[in-house]
Amino acid sequence: MKFSAFVLLASVASSLASPHNILGGRIIPASDKDELKAIGAYHQKYPDRRTVTIRPSRNENDDVSDDFLWGIQQANYGGRLLLEKDKTYVIGKKLDLTFLNDIEVQLEGELKFTNNITYWQANNFYYSFQKSITFWRWGGEDIKIFGKGTMNGNGQKWYDEFSGSQILDPDNTFYRPILFVTDNATRVSVEGITQLNSPCWTNFLIRTDDVSFDDVYIHAFSTNASVDAANTDGFDSLIVDNFRVTNVRVDNGDDCFSPKPNTSNIFVQNLWCNNSHGVSMGSIGEYSGEYDFIENAYMENLTLLNGQNGARLKAWAGPDVGYGRMTNITYRNVEIQNTDSPIVLDQCYFDINSTECAEYPSQVNITNVIFDNIWGTSSGKEGEIVVDLTCSPNAVCSNINLSRINLTSPDGGSEIICDNIEGSIGVNCTSTSS
Ligand SMILES: *[C@@H]1O[C@H](CO)[C@@H](O)[C@H](O)[C@H]1NC(C)=O
Ligand SMILES: *[C@@H]1O[C@H](CO)[C@@H](O)[C@H](O)[C@H]1NC(C)=O
Ligand SMILES: *[C@@H]1O[C@H](CO)[C@@H](O)[C@H](O)[C@H]1NC(C)=O
Ligand SMILES: *[C@@H]1O[C@H](CO)[C@@H](O)[C@H](O)[C@H]1NC(C)=O
Ligand SMILES: *[C@@H]1O[C@H](CO)[C@@H](O)[C@H](O)[C@H]1NC(C)=O
Ligand SMILES: *[C@@H]1O[C@H](CO)[C@@H](O)[C@H](O)[C@H]1NC(C)=O
Ligand SMILES: *[C@@H]1O[C@H](CO)[C@@H](O)[C@H](O)[C@H]1NC(C)=O
Ligand SMILES: *[C@@H]1O[C@H](CO)[C@@H](O)[C@H](O)[C@H]1NC(C)=O
Ligand SMILES: *[C@@H]1O[C@H](CO)[C@@H](O)[C@H](O)[C@H]1NC(C)=O
Ligand SMILES: *[C@@H]1O[C@H](CO)[C@@H](O)[C@H](O)[C@H]1NC(C)=O
Ligand SMILES: *[C@@H]1O[C@H](CO)[C@@H](O)[C@H](O)[C@H]1NC(C)=O
Ligand SMILES: *[C@@H]1O[C@H](CO)[C@@H](O)[C@H](O)[C@H]1NC(C)=O
Repeated sequence: MKFSAFVLLASVASSLASPHNILGGRIIPASDKDELKAIGAYHQKYPDRRTVTIRPSRNENDDVSDDFLWGIQQANYGGRLLLEKDKTYVIGKKLDLTFLNDIEVQLEGELKFTNNITYWQANNFYYSFQKSITFWRWGGEDIKIFGKGTMNGNGQKWYDEFSGSQILDPDNTFYRPILFVTDNATRVSVEGITQLNSPCWTNFLIRTDDVSFDDVYIHAFSTNASVDAANTDGFDSLIVDNFRVTNVRVDNGDDCFSPKPNTSNIFVQNLWCNNSHGVSMGSIGEYSGEYDFIENAYMENLTLLNGQNGARLKAWAGPDVGYGRMTNITYRNVEIQNTDSPIVLDQCYFDINSTECAEYPSQVNITNVIFDNIWGTSSGKEGEIVVDLTCSPNAVCSNINLSRINLTSPDGGSEIICDNIEGSIGVNCTSTSS
């Protein structure tokens, strides 16, 4: 008894002492209901917790990343960091948040990154996978982010300066940070927030299990008419198991939802995508000698508008690529409107012609794919083609099943291409290869 009382006192003392290190930082005990209510630390789903607040930024250049890090440390192990409504918190330093264990971040205000390109290009976390860099990374266990606030990547300057470069160009060295990254994390949930103008991909989940996004709005747009908000994917993943995305809206100019190597057990429901490159499995099989897989994906109730692609699977072929499998992928109840290529399966990715694809067929086996109840219109960019399934000659591409497909091009035609697929696909189609 005596001993534990002492431990308790000691820990209270240390948590009371440390606020003095940070101007304006506060820790409110879970029992102080009135104060918690007064500052907006309330959520109908989650019980009150020890709640930490930090001072907001006074202006666009008032970097509070030290305060933010302090707040995260104080809220770790059972507490909550509250970022208050109508306040902006500017983050101007890279942050390693991989020490988390049972933390909530209630984001009601705005978390905004500085756009000092010189700084971020010299200070970031780098991942060799598609040469990705990030402002910060979140890792550990039981991480919940929720609220009605905004995570703002402040991307315009990045879009402007990147303009003219290509992310897949091997000579490109103009790297742009990803807005939200988890690495080595278990049980992560993100709910209710808006993710605005990421300089590059919006979410990248790495080595993460049990991650969910619900009721999130992702928006990336450029106000400079001559440049795009390029490569602002909604979701990408690498080595992720149990990945849920529900009730999410994405309006961007690249992939909406795109699991990458070694992602399994994917569940997507009520995903709306506007102006995107689609809900795209892969690409996988890119890196020479490496085995990749994507399996067990169930996606339903998707609305895909004004896109380059709708439902898409892509695996690399060519000399010097990798291998692997993509299996058990279902797209069901999907509305696709005004989209260049509503349904695409491309086993000759990236950008190689049929001669080369025949010479170096993909070594990613694609099997057990269902496209069921998919309706709407193409944009007409590909003529009457509404479904384009192109497998590599001599590759494994089987048990691909289309049913209840009602897609039409603007002139009323609807051509379905099926190249090098083993067996019937359930609907009449044209093979250009035979
Ligand atoms: C941007 O960051 C660089 C390098 O850290 C620094 O020298 C410079 O003062 C910063 N610029 C602004 C406008 O803050
Ligand atoms: C991953 O996180 C766990 C704790 O959640 C830690 O024990 C482990 O060392 C971390 N692994 C890596 C590779 O960082
Ligand atoms: C738009 O971006 C281009 C390319 O970076 C740049 O030259 C131009 O100044 C930008 N326009 C505005 C209004 O910022
Ligand atoms: C979808 O994007 C188009 C531009 O392509 C835009 O005009 C439209 O307002 C967007 N739809 C919604 C509901 O935001
Ligand atoms: C993906 O999984 C395969 C098979 O388990 C493994 O060989 C490969 O190293 C994994 N890839 C990554 C990037 O971890
Ligand atoms: C296929 O994936 C679904 C959804 O992820 C899963 O429920 C089902 O068990 C998987 N089927 C097989 C044969 O693995
Ligand atoms: C599918 O979307 C429709 C229209 O948005 C909605 O009414 C319905 O509840 C959704 N179904 C499921 C299973 O969520
Ligand atoms: C692909 O399928 C072929 C034929 O069944 C098999 O030999 C090969 O091992 C499979 N490749 C992978 C990566 O599973
Ligand atoms: C296909 O691509 C290869 C390699 O880039 C090139 O050598 C060949 O001429 C191309 N063939 C056709 C028919 O375009
Ligand atoms: C294709 O899917 C339809 C509808 O889900 C089903 O009735 C049919 O048996 C499937 N065909 C094959 C070859 O699996
Ligand atoms: C296909 O869609 C068109 C246009 O939305 C509709 O008029 C038609 O009834 C649909 N056909 C079937 C078989 O559902
Ligand atoms: C495919 O076309 C043939 C000949 O036009 C027709 O008899 C058959 O019903 C069609 N099958 C399907 C699944 O639409």
